[in-house]
Amino acid sequence: MASSTLTITDNRTGKRYELPIEHGAIRASDLSQIRVAPGEPGLVSYDPALINTATCKSKVSFIDGERGILRYRGYPIEELAEKSSFLETAYLIVKGELPTTSHFLMWQHNIKMHTLVHENIKQFIQGFRYDAHPMGILIATAGALSTFYPEAKNIMDLESRRVQTRRLIGKMPTIAAFAYRHSRGLPYIYPDNDLSYTGNFLSMMFKMTELKYRPDPVLEHALDVLFILHADHEQNCSSTTMRTVGSAHSDPYASVAGAAAALAGPRHGSANEEVVHMLHEIGSIDRIPGLIKQAKGGERRLMGFGHRVYKNYDPRAQLIKKIAYDVFEVTGKNPLIEIALELERIALQDEYFVSRRLYPNVDFYSGIIYEAMGLPVAMFPVLFAIARTAGWMAQWAEMVLDDEQKIVRPKQLYVGHDERHYVPLDQRREGGAPEVEVHGPL
Ligand code: CMC
Repeated sequence: MASSTLTITDNRTGKRYELPIEHGAIRASDLSQIRVAPGEPGLVSYDPALINTATCKSKVSFIDGERGILRYRGYPIEELAEKSSFLETAYLIVKGELPTTSHFLMWQHNIKMHTLVHENIKQFIQGFRYDAHPMGILIATAGALSTFYPEAKNIMDLESRRVQTRRLIGKMPTIAAFAYRHSRGLPYIYPDNDLSYTGNFLSMMFKMTELKYRPDPVLEHALDVLFILHADHEQNCSSTTMRTVGSAHSDPYASVAGAAAALAGPRHGSANEEVVHMLHEIGSIDRIPGLIKQAKGGERRLMGFGHRVYKNYDPRAQLIKKIAYDVFEVTGKNPLIEIALELERIALQDEYFVSRRLYPNVDFYSGIIYEAMGLPVAMFPVLFAIARTAGWMAQWAEMVLDDEQKIVRPKQLYVGHDERHYVPLDQRREGGAPEVEVHGPL
């Protein structure tokens, strides 16, 4: 039988090394024994953006990008979207198993117990300019929670980890809704724990003077499914940030602030916002070829297309496309859908997108639904963050308890100057020495 090892011959020395293969991987640290001579640095692997490097063993979610498969804790995303609720899926992601009825009721109670925020948080949010981006408010406020719960630094304490998890999942919708109300100059609406997790979020967003806000059940369900679809996605940029910040044993609020900051980028969780801007900019179907031309010429990216892992249709995008029509039954059709469908049709026939295996991702249709529901564009990444908090906490706890994990500290390949000596300011030639780059990176 073939052995699960990799044999490497170092042609610099002629030496052979046999490295074990486990779970389809060699350990990068095994490469360090490969060196030209004792005392010389060992071999390292060079992997900018960690494209082909596993940084952890994880049991939370599974993706097969070739076949377009996503599972949380083994359960296909399609089944969860059809049969589960966001809170139940959050339990599954955080705890590893689907809850029994009593465990679910307890979990629901525990999350709802934590939907309120300290009144100082309200004042903290009020300190932002009226036009502050809600994602900026969310990032800052998540980090600020750390100052309210100093015991959160006890990350090795199970009870502390559990409480912070409930607090974060419970408070994210409240912070998100307060950020929105702030931008509109509207009074903040306190949580209504009679409503579902998602219904309460809609209430905090949209309640005006009525005594009780009653969310439309179709929209409430659609948003809940969208939350399920965004809840985790293995080692994406923000979850990797969560693990990285957490690896320094920073508390989970600081780590979530870091993760949310990563999510805020247009290549990650803000892509849904960019998609809607792009579709508005296109405006009509006859202008699609112009945009495709720009994307192919490298002038811009087709937002909501392409994925590091999926080289097939993103399964979340398939599901979201279906939900759109349920939502339109209530809200009326968002005209952007016609542009999006045509854009997808043209792109999926175009050699540029086909050869690079660029398909619609989760963000391509989600923004259209959010917009139809009256959720403002700037809130789209915030909605993503509410749902992804469950995944971040699960990934974080897994990292904290993993004996193999240490503080994240990658290597670099140094390509800068060799040793050189300080020249006093008045002796430096204006414009720089010939070998000095006048225009540096900053
Ligand atoms: N439009 C046009 N060309 C693209 C696009 C796009 N959206 N995405 C990738 N390409 C091209 C890229 O120019 C490159 O071409 P070439 O080989 O000629 O240089 C090739 O495809 C590979 O691109 P890459 O940048 O090496 O791929 P990546 O795996 O590093 O990037 C991505 C993945 C998602 C950042 C990228 O596809 C992208 O920027 N997409 C648009 C933003 C977006 O929709 N992001 C949401 C991702 S899903 C939600 C989430 O996880 O946050």
